[in-house]
Amino acid sequence: MSGDLKWNKIFGAGLATAMVLVGMPYAIGYIYKTKPPEKMGYFIDAPEEPSGTVEVELPPEWGTVLPVADLAAGEAAFARCQACHTVNQGGANGIGPNLWAVIGGPVMHMPGFAYSDAFNAHKAIAPVWTYDEMDQFIKAPQRHIAGTKMSFAGIRDTETRINLIAWLRSQGSGGYAIPAPDPARQPGAAVPADGAAPVEGGEAAADGQAPVEGAAAAPTAEATTPAQPSA
Ligand code: HEC
Repeated sequence: MSGDLKWNKIFGAGLATAMVLVGMPYAIGYIYKTKPPEKMGYFIDAPEEPSGTVEVELPPEWGTVLPVADLAAGEAAFARCQACHTVNQGGANGIGPNLWAVIGGPVMHMPGFAYSDAFNAHKAIAPVWTYDEMDQFIKAPQRHIAGTKMSFAGIRDTETRINLIAWLRSQGSGGYAIPAPDPARQPGAAVPADGAAPVEGGEAAADGQAPVEGAAAAPTAEATTPAQPSA
């Protein structure tokens, strides 16, 4: 008899265990009330672009756009920076560092200014304020240098940034060369672009290259890049 009882106990224990195991997820679910995420998968912080306007836009073609940039518009755009920055030579640091000769200069170009750790880290990977670096930074400071203490939302409009950068260059950075126009980025590409906007003193078009048969009628850049020097 006692043998039967023993097996009863063993089965009973087994059954109880099984019930606990089966019921556990429900119990836990009840306690924590987990809601399934609205979207499955990992969250990646990328802005959703409406299809068609993928944000893999090329950086501006500096050799073409800088010589014809609107300096007056650039100076006007600098109004947004003036709350924190002076730009005159020898000007005082404000909330942000003085910006005289910053284009083409080293990142953290004002030795006396207390830059953030984020800037210190960024300098190690991108030590120079190239046109591209400046463009990316002004476009979205916090995205380009996460943790920067420059609390400025950024300028989304590419045209405005180009004008501003051209004007900043005129403030002590004239010695920082404008690259020659990139033939591959001219309308009608592939052929050396003879009609590309000239750079002062620059030898833009690579000559000595035999014209490709049938390529003679390639459109020149004249239509889109008026070559008159801006004031
Ligand atoms: C709210 C204040 C503020 C505004 C507005 C602001 N900045 Fe700044 N800026 C800063 C601060 C602060 C820093 C230093 C950032 C750091 O150390 O993280 C800085 C750094 C910079 C640097 C880096 C300089 C260097 O020595 O490496 C550049 C370039 C710059 N700003 C350009 C601009 C431009 C151009 C604008 C306007 C479009 C602008 N800033 C608007 C506060 C500002």
